[in-house]
Amino acid sequence: MREYTLSQLEEAALQWWRELPRGAVVWLTGDLGTGKTTLVQAFTRAANATPATSPSFALVHEYASPEGPLIHVDCYRLRRPEEALDLDLPELGRRARLLFIEWPERAVPFVPAPDLHLKLFYGSSPDRRRIEGSR
Ligand SMILES: Nc1ncnc2c1ncn2[C@@H]1O[C@H](COP(=O)(O)OP(=O)(O)OP(=O)(O)O)[C@@H](O)[C@H]1O
Ligand SMILES: [Mg+2]
Repeated sequence: MREYTLSQLEEAALQWWRELPRGAVVWLTGDLGTGKTTLVQAFTRAANATPATSPSFALVHEYASPEGPLIHVDCYRLRRPEEALDLDLPELGRRARLLFIEWPERAVPFVPAPDLHLKLFYGSSPDRRRIEGSR
């Protein structure tokens, strides 16, 4: 576990991107504003991915990369975990090069288990975040 500035996040995302196999599910948890969405965006840069036309759901953001789609699902606005069933997360996981799930705790138990769980925390200064990765 260590701390990252915004620019250090780019290098960290690149390293995780290189390690994670096809179809890996990445959970992102942490308080509001700890940088979960920002970290997904760093992954899209690491993967040379660009925004693709989004599927039918506002909670799902898809990016096209040379290795296949990066799919980001933000469960924050789910009112009930059951609503995650409409998103068909298992199918997204089969199609994705990487499937990122932000606020997965809102979708439990209707959410695929993580291959990598990134837990984000505020750091020792306002421009840093602590990130703990577990598998
Ligand atoms: N590693 C970092 N170092 C410094 N600032 C960061 C870092 N990561 C994110 N930030 C800043 O924190 C703010 C919130 O980031 P972001 O929206 O990604 O948080 P979030 O965890 O997705 O929040 P939410 O739970 O509300 O969706 C942004 O202004 C972003 O630039
Ligand atoms: Mg967010």
